[in-house]
Formats: sequence, C-alpha cells, structure tokens
Amino acid sequence: MQLLRLLIVPGLIGLGTLIAVHRPSLYSSTGRDDNGARAAFIEAYKVFMYPRCMNCHPAGDSPLQGDDSRTHFYRVRRGTDGNGVYSMKCTNCHQATNQPGLNMPPGASNLSKDDSANLTPRWRLPPTKTPMVFQGRTPSQLCSQLKDQTENGGMTAEALIRHISSDPLVLWGWDPGEGRSKPPLSHDKFVENIKAWLGKGGACPK
Ligand code: HEC
Ligand code: HEC
Repeated sequence: MQLLRLLIVPGLIGLGTLIAVHRPSLYSSTGRDDNGARAAFIEAYKVFMYPRCMNCHPAGDSPLQGDDSRTHFYRVRRGTDGNGVYSMKCTNCHQATNQPGLNMPPGASNLSKDDSANLTPRWRLPPTKTPMVFQGRTPSQLCSQLKDQTENGGMTAEALIRHISSDPLVLWGWDPGEGRSKPPLSHDKFVENIKAWLGKGGACPK
C-alpha cells in the first residue's frame, strides 16, 4: 500500500503538470490553420479600422471624431489614465448612454446593457502606458499588437474574446447614436472572425 502510494502520488503530480502545461489554449482550439487564421483576421481588421473604433484608438494624444476621423473639437487630451485632463474629462460630456439628437455626445456604461441599476459612464481612451493604437497600423502590425500582453492590457486570448464580445465600448460601435454609421460587419460576424482567428492558431497576415 505504502509503495503503491509512493508510486501513484508522484505519478499524479506528473500527470497534473502535463495537463497544466498542455492545457488546451484558445490559440489552437479548432486545430492550427495559418491561412484560415489570417483570412479571419483580415475580415476583423475592417472593424478595428472603422472610425467608430479607431476614433478611440488614435495614434496621437486626442480622440478623433466623425467618419473622417478628424481631431476631437477642443483637442481634448488623453491624460495618464485615458479619462481626459483638467476640466475636459470625457465623462463631463459623455454619459452612460447616447444623448439623443444629432452631434450630441455618444455614451456607454460600465455595466452590461441589461443591468439598469447604477449606470456609470465608461467613456475614455486607453491609458498613456498602453495606448492600444489602431490608427495607421497595418493588418500585420495590429495582429501582433493585439496578442502582445505588454501592449493589450495583459489580455489572454480568452480575455480578448470576452472584451470584443461584451465590453460596452465595443458594443457601442453598433449602437453609435443618431447620425453615426456602423462598421461593415455585424457584431456577430466580427466576434466569429476573432474566434476563428485565435481558434485557428492566431497567425498574423504577412
Ligand atoms: C466638452 C464636452 C466633451 C468632452 C470633454 C469630450 N467630448 Fe467627446 N464628444 C463630445 C461631443 C458633443 C461629441 C459629438 C460630436 C459630433 O457628433 O459632432 C463627441 C464625440 C466624440 C467621439 C466621436 C465618436 C465618433 O465615432 O464619431 C469620440 C471618440 C469622443 N468624443 C471621445 C472623447 C474622449 C475619449 C474624451 C476624453 C478624453 C472626450 N471625448 C471628451 C463632447 C465632448
Ligand atoms: C470611447 C472609446 C472607445 C471606443 C469607442 C472603442 N474602444 Fe476599444 N478600448 C477603449 C479603452 C479605454 C480600452 C482599454 C480597456 C479598458 O480600459 O478596459 C480599449 C481596449 C480595446 C481592446 C483591447 C486591447 C487592445 O489591444 O487594443 C480592443 C481589442 C478594443 N478596445 C477593440 C475595440 C473595437 C473593436 C471597437 C469598436 C467596435 C472599440 N474598441 C471602440 C476605448 C474605446
């Protein structure tokens, strides 16, 4: 019995390590397929570069606005935490929902849409430390950047999928308020392509 335990326990620990190390990762859950992954990313790229998304993922220090992605009026700035600077804090104007009417401030909440209690506004830019720039990135550059945890806010593939599936700032892109256009793919198709890209191994376009 004692001998058996001596043999089984290390055996189980060994097996546990093996499972931990080879835990199936989303990065190839449907089997690796580099061409399929690249094609899926190229589709999703159309959404990332669309003004509704890119306007909050600018190369510079100010958000952009409109379908021509011009600099936000007053040149409001990012600030260290992305919430704006001095009296120009984003949430002074941007509330938890879109304000009705043309040219009114769009808005998004911190909570999921169906939780109507205590809606606090979430509108801001990514922080200075990880500005998560989309503007000007090629498909290849953006693809690598999105997978790089030093640039994406420490997100695993799973967290990235959760973010683009349910973050109110992302969902806002398909409910952007009066007079604003929507991305060329539906939200469902966008999520499907991100899942396919990562599920097929996450290869990046060359
Ligand atoms: C003084 C009020 C005010 C402040 C402060 C402000 N905004 Fe805005 N913002 C607006 C208004 C109003 C609009 C809509 C303009 C329009 O549609 O013509 C707008 C539009 C935008 C858009 C454009 C959406 C689109 O896709 O066309 C983005 C992005 C944006 N703001 C981000 C921010 C961020 C991020 C901050 C903080 C760093 C911020 N804003 C601070 C009032 C403000
Ligand atoms: C109001 C500004 C705003 C809008 C609009 C917005 N984002 Fe973001 N995005 C952010 C902020 C802020 C973060 C940082 C995450 C956080 O603060 O939780 C972020 C993070 C991300 C990330 C995670 C990490 C990374 O590497 O970039 C992805 C992916 C992303 N956004 C995609 C999108 C997509 C797709 C859209 C359009 C459908 C979009 N965003 C629209 C502000 C915005």
